[in-house]
Formats: sequence, structure tokens, C-alpha cells
Amino acid sequence: MATTESARTEVRGDEAARPTRLYIDGSWRDAADGRRFDSYEPATGRVWADVAEAGPDDVDAAVAAARRAFEGDWGRVLAPDRARILWRMAELIDRHRDELTELESRDNGKAIRETRVEMAAIVRYFEYFAGMCQNVLGETMPEVAPMFTYTRREPIGVVGAIIPWNSPLLMLAWKLCPALAGGNTIVLKPAEETPLSALAFARLIEQLELPPGVVNIVPGFGERAGDALVRHPDVDKIAFTGSTEVGKAIAAAAAPTLKLVTFELGGKSPNIVFADADLDDAVNRSAFGIFSAAGQSCMAASRTLVDRRVREEFVERFAAKAQSIRVGDPLADSTQMGSQTSQRQLDKIKEYVAIGAGEGARVASGGEPPASAGLGDGWFFTPTILDGVSNDMRVAREEIFGPVTSVIAFSDEDEAVARANDTRYGLAAAVWTRDVKRAHRVAARLRAGTVWINNYRVWNHTMPFGGYKESGYGRENGRQVMEHYTQVKSVYVDLQEDQPDWFGD
Ligand code: NAI
Ligand code: MG
Repeated sequence: MATTESARTEVRGDEAARPTRLYIDGSWRDAADGRRFDSYEPATGRVWADVAEAGPDDVDAAVAAARRAFEGDWGRVLAPDRARILWRMAELIDRHRDELTELESRDNGKAIRETRVEMAAIVRYFEYFAGMCQNVLGETMPEVAPMFTYTRREPIGVVGAIIPWNSPLLMLAWKLCPALAGGNTIVLKPAEETPLSALAFARLIEQLELPPGVVNIVPGFGERAGDALVRHPDVDKIAFTGSTEVGKAIAAAAAPTLKLVTFELGGKSPNIVFADADLDDAVNRSAFGIFSAAGQSCMAASRTLVDRRVREEFVERFAAKAQSIRVGDPLADSTQMGSQTSQRQLDKIKEYVAIGAGEGARVASGGEPPASAGLGDGWFFTPTILDGVSNDMRVAREEIFGPVTSVIAFSDEDEAVARANDTRYGLAAAVWTRDVKRAHRVAARLRAGTVWINNYRVWNHTMPFGGYKESGYGRENGRQVMEHYTQVKSVYVDLQEDQPDWFGD
């Protein structure tokens, strides 16, 4: 088990816990009831921020501000001007990339080399959606009657966004960019574990002359602030990323007000390695698939399906790769895997490894916290491979959301596909093979919203992303996301010189 020492201890001096406030209606304020909560630095397990906690009254104020902005100034901003605003947001993030990267890695424990890549992607994301503003198009329909008929794509109104802690600013971008590109206003609740980058973003965009209330950031807990947002009668749409269980609760809570909802939920994604695959690539990228983001990824390669004929060799090399990964201080450049984001997640991972062992799985790599990650009480775990798993075990069926993959053997293509699809989830899947026919055949048979052929966990802003089955509905990214952040109005224009009188003779 390789570990890295803290290279940047100076940034962890005795600074007082940073106090934050809520960003509502273009200004900073404390919670109406004065509540606050602690945010932890996962790598040290210490409190490092003192965060104002939004409750229902604050959510109410934020929604009212978002509504006023939508009905008022923001509703009159033309598409090219919205484009310029998104572009300037991209520039601000780019200019402050280093600070944001460090803040994010400290707040959620992700290795800084990964957060850097994420920040670069976020900049591109804002740029892409700046372009989208002027590409939200209606249609002109064929003349089936003496009518000119066309559709307009209009904003939905006030969007409530609830995001998780694994990639906080990226998840903000995934919701806020299409919301603003479509002409909506937004109230965003970051996860309670990682509220800081969204607040830093709000601080940056104060420099833009955005009408107050267009963007509101309300850190708080799911059961209070999140629930208030979901039930609020004046929120028109909820965009949620998080657990399938909470997704279902939100679907129910949103039903009485019939608001639109889109969900990007959990996964138990199969990564299928056929015997003819390039094993070097398959080993390296399967490791990335499960161990990047310390396994805290909705699209993590948490089920590794391997052809029996190469299983032994694959697992041996995969385990060697896992053991070589340097786990340690997220802020150290040499670190390849940071910490888990919360004590709760760490406990969950430990519990699942024990469950797997109890079910008869063999730990081929990892299986425990590192002896030392150099940072005291941080929430670290080692890259873990469970071998000899069958698809009916809990470790093959339930989302662990940590650096733990289950190796499941298969004998032929049909069995591989059947096992891969035998899950309540359907977010992502991958196929490793040199056989071009098999690659496309299997890609078509997999019931998942994203399939990679000879790669894993790549995505870009142009490609729709979302789940089949209990991994959610709706799509994020690409042009398709705009269907979920706009609504269609049909306009009929009569072209007849005179209207026939239906009630005439
Ligand atoms: P969660 O689904 O409880 O939290 C995600 C977001 O939803 C947070 O902002 C939270 O405050 C909010 N939330 C929670 N309960 C809510 C409610 N009743 N109404 C409105 N908003 C609510 O996920 P959590 O507890 O952080 O992690 C539990 C498990 O969920 C993880 O172990 C993992 O399996 C899965 N998960 C999946 C994610 C994904 O990217 N698909 C992201 C985070 C977690
Ligand atoms: Mg929860």
C-alpha cells in the first residue's frame, strides 16, 4: 500500500473555521433562524468551515427571489446576453481555478490531480452552454391546414437543484448551466458535506451584473432545506443527483405540486472484460473506472465481469495495479487517490467489505483503511477488489460508492450480458474486446444510459448522460439536456383571408 505525505501542510495551519453565509437575492445573509453547521475536511477529519444552514424560511426567500428575477429583469435578458454571462462565468472559474481546486479537494477529499481535471472540464462546460443559449430552437411545422404553426422553447421558471458531494462544482455546472442557458432562475442546495465551492462560485459571480435572484445558493440538509425546495409550490422543476432512495422520496414529495423532475441516481455498473481484450488497457482503465474519485462515482465500475478464461490473470494484474495506487493527502501532487468524503461513507465501505467476506468473496486487494495516509484521522480506504463474487451477493447488487469492485466470472457473451443487465440500476457499462462486431452487439444489448467500448468513465459535455431503470430519468449534458430545462409552446397563426363560420349555415 503506497501512501503520500502531506506536501502542503502550510495550508492546514490554525486558521479559524471559515464562516459562511447564504447567498439569496444577490446578497449574503445568515439563516433566518440563525442555525449553522460544521463542514469537515475529510483528509484530516477536522472541522474546517462553519456554515450557515438554510431552513424552510430561507428556501422560501430564495424561491421568492428566483421568481421575482424570472418574472422581472432576467426574463427580459436576451439569449446573446445570457450567453455572455455564462461565458464570463467560465472565465471567472478559469481565472480562479487554482483556488477553487484547492478548496474543492479540501472540502471533499478528492486528489488534487483529479480536481484539476474536473475544473478544466467545468470551464469547458460553461463555454459550451454559453453557445447553447442561442441554439435553443423551436420548429416550424408543415402546413397541414391554412395555418402557420411553430413551436417555441421557453424557460420552465424556477429550478430547484439538489446536488451531491462527490463532484460539487461539476454538479453545480451540470444543473446551473442548462438552467441559465434556457432562461430559468435557480435555487441550488449543495450537499451538506461540501457546501464551499458553490458559495465560492457565488462570490465570484458577484462581479457580473446578474439581476439579483437569478442564482441562489442555500447550503443545508436534505431533510430540511432539500425537502422544503422539493415541496415548494413555486418551484417549477427539481433537478436531483444523489441516491436512488432519496430520488424516490423526492419523486413522491414533488408529486402533489406536479413539478417536473429529473434524476441522476445510483449505479452498479458492469465492466465486461472479454478474453480477447487488450488486457493491459483493460487492467489500467478498469482501475480508473473504480478507483478514480476514490470510487465515489455514480458511474463507478463496481462490477467487474471477467471471462473465466482470463479471470485469474486479470485479477492478478488488477490487484497489482490496485496495490500500486498512492493513497494520501488530496493536496499532494503525487497522490493518486484521496480520501472518502465522510465518516459515514467510510463506515459504509467497511461494512460492505465485511458483508462481502461473509458472503464468501475473497479480498484480492485492499479491504481496509491504509496503515497510514500521513494525515491522522482522515477518512481513507484502500483500493479494494473482491474476487469470487456471484451476481446475487449484496456486494454485487447494492451501491457501495467507494473504491470497491466485485469480480464476477462469466463463460460466454450471453451470460455476460444477462449478468450485466441483472441489476435494478442502468447508468453505465463497458465492454472490453477486440472484436468489433461483438463490441457493438453487446453495446446494443446492455440496458444502460452510457456504454463505453474499450474505455471506462470518460464523459464530455456534448454527450447526453443519464440512467435507465432505477438510475433515474431525464438526461444531462449535450443538446438533450435542454429538453429538460425548457418547455414547448405551440403557436397557431391563422392564414385565411376569412374565417369560415362554424355556426353559420
Ligand atoms: P443523498 O441522496 O442523501 O444526498 C444527495 C443530496 O440530496 C444532498 O444534497 C442531500 O442533502 C439531499 N437530500 C437528502 N435527502 C433529501 C430529501 N429528503 N429531500 C431533498 N433532498 C435530500 O445521498 P448521501 O446520503 O449523501 O449518500 C448515500 C448514498 O447515495 C451513497 O453512499 C451513494 O450510494 C449514493 N449517492 C449517489 C450519488 C450519485 O452521484 N448518483 C451521489 C451521492 C450519493
Ligand atoms: Mg442521505
